[in-house]
Amino acid sequence: MIDGMSSNQRPASGSRWPRQIPGLAFGADYNPEQWPADTWREDLRLMQEVGVNLVAVNVFGWASLEPEPDRFELDELSRVMDMLAEHGVYANLGTGTASPPPWFWRRFPDTLPMTAEGTRLWPGGRQAWCPSSPTFRERALGLVYVVAEHFADHPALAMWHVSNELGCHNARCYCDISAEAFRRWLRSRYDEDIDALNAAWGTAFWSQRYTDWRDVLPPRAVPAIVNPAQQLDFRRFSSAELLDHFRAERDLLRKRTPGVPVTTNLMVTEHINALDYAAWGPELDIVANDHYLIAEDPDAHVELAFCADRVRGLARGEPWFLMEHSTSAVNWQPRNVAKRPGELRRNSLAHVARGADAVSFFQWRASTAGAERHHSALIPHAGTDTKIWREVQQLGRDLRAIQQVKGTHVEAPVAMLVDYQSQWALEHDAHPSRDVTGLDRAHALYRAAWHAGVTTTILAPGADLTGYQLVLIPTLYLVSDATAAAVSDYVGSGGHVVVTYYSGIADMDDRIRLGGYPGAFRDLLGVHVEEFFPLRHGERIRLDDGSTADVWTELLHLRGAEAVSSYRDGPLPGVPAVTRRSVGRGAAWYVATRLDAEGTARLLGRVLTEAGIEHGSHPTGVEVVRRVGAGKSFLFVVNHTDSDVEVDADGVDLVTGRTCSRTITVVGGGVGVVQEVVDRSG
Ligand code: GLA
Repeated sequence: MIDGMSSNQRPASGSRWPRQIPGLAFGADYNPEQWPADTWREDLRLMQEVGVNLVAVNVFGWASLEPEPDRFELDELSRVMDMLAEHGVYANLGTGTASPPPWFWRRFPDTLPMTAEGTRLWPGGRQAWCPSSPTFRERALGLVYVVAEHFADHPALAMWHVSNELGCHNARCYCDISAEAFRRWLRSRYDEDIDALNAAWGTAFWSQRYTDWRDVLPPRAVPAIVNPAQQLDFRRFSSAELLDHFRAERDLLRKRTPGVPVTTNLMVTEHINALDYAAWGPELDIVANDHYLIAEDPDAHVELAFCADRVRGLARGEPWFLMEHSTSAVNWQPRNVAKRPGELRRNSLAHVARGADAVSFFQWRASTAGAERHHSALIPHAGTDTKIWREVQQLGRDLRAIQQVKGTHVEAPVAMLVDYQSQWALEHDAHPSRDVTGLDRAHALYRAAWHAGVTTTILAPGADLTGYQLVLIPTLYLVSDATAAAVSDYVGSGGHVVVTYYSGIADMDDRIRLGGYPGAFRDLLGVHVEEFFPLRHGERIRLDDGSTADVWTELLHLRGAEAVSSYRDGPLPGVPAVTRRSVGRGAAWYVATRLDAEGTARLLGRVLTEAGIEHGSHPTGVEVVRRVGAGKSFLFVVNHTDSDVEVDADGVDLVTGRTCSRTITVVGGGVGVVQEVVDRSG
């Protein structure tokens, strides 16, 4: 199916793309305040040379714009905006509220955030503010008002960039102001009924019953394990507080400039899950994301694809905005491995293949000072006679050559359900095994699909599953009744589903579902699990089909399903490990153990065949993704290997201008984008 097209919901993004950018957007964070005016002239010349058309400015501008309380200086930013306009470059204009100036904390010390242990975090870094502080909100909105008034009609203004990576450094604050806001949020969630909170949090346990709202606190550091439902609600609250902040800035901007799209940069990336972006997607005019590779991971491009496919899910299939990635190394990982030749281009175009209509970077010119002076940029410290700049020039040419892909949609036959709230619940203490983690099985199944050449869209529970040929449900620990019913209906109408262990265990209050595991999915899967048997650290067991597994086993009984494979050894010899239940034309598979990569790939291959999904036809290490639109079809071939590869394709490679009849050859490390002859849009 084509992502998002079956949904009857209004698309979250795409419909409000900046009208000034006719093709794909290309740009970077631009911080001219770090440089003398001479450099600005060179910057603009170089931007024009490579075709940069949209830059993010004023992202950390507060200290320049309001150097003293209530005294605003907008001249320098006006000069920058004028200069952009004169050179045909548009602004993704920051509201500048991400980091208040140093005077702010002298004047408003209670806006500083506090950790769970009660430690105040100080200024001197960035984003040290409490998301629930009314003072911070008021002052930030004051700045937004000034910026919006001043630049509303500026010809360079194409879109608004609210704050920066909300929640990156201050996702959860435990101060007294936050505690008060948390209580207000809970009173509304539980309809002023404190016993509803007691029931949801299971406070009959460990003498935690509340009788007065004043006693309810954020989950601060405690001597023993904090109540898991309290932690879960606090994470929901914290995500909602920052979303509320985004909405407040957005609404002010919309009022002044109704025609200008408003967004903020999300962080759908391996190591960050602070906010529940499922709630954020519909609030953004354009879903925008920042993605940084885990550079030490030799398969980082697969993780990149996972994140891109997740962002597309948040954008409900509509084109989205890659707001930041890096041209090469970052400066904040333990070992900041640089990008290999060609990697910058492969990364950028892989994002486009998976639905991005904009490619932007942090940042334009590498800083000489400050915390990010060792971070790569489009113009590195060594200048323009460099590998990076030559690749930037090449990328500029590529984006121009493929601009017709703008507005098309990605074809994906497989959906995967991944939920931030379920990930949060899994991160809390006291589960059966610390080796069961939020995204482990999601990555394993995704990786198997990626290597089989199958495109997957990552969706949040609740999304429309219509049209997908297969739905993967990896370790979805928390599940609502509605999600469980939707999955059953999907299988009942001929769908195929694979569920992995420790799914369906708890309801949305993290209360265990009774009657046998895997709770919410037990009947659909036709299995009944009476007890978990987690394995010892490093213990590996064998299955009767030759695969191996570790971490997890279950005492499982068949109740309508058939055994696909069983344990040969370990604590439960002879017990089914993988099961399958036929449901009409569809099937429900259950994987009760942590299969090795080969076993996962084999199993997925079998399921893909049954579900009628073409797979395994591309060379290993080659990413093939199709974007389609009215009368148009584009095949992206990203070659992550060092050798030349051949892939079936008919049409014209827009990157090289060569015609391909029946096959395209893509050089080692290269990328091809074939405008296909066949009209697949019908
Ligand atoms: C984030 C921020 C940028 C910069 C980069 C560095 O994405 O938004 O300001 O700090 O990280 O990788």
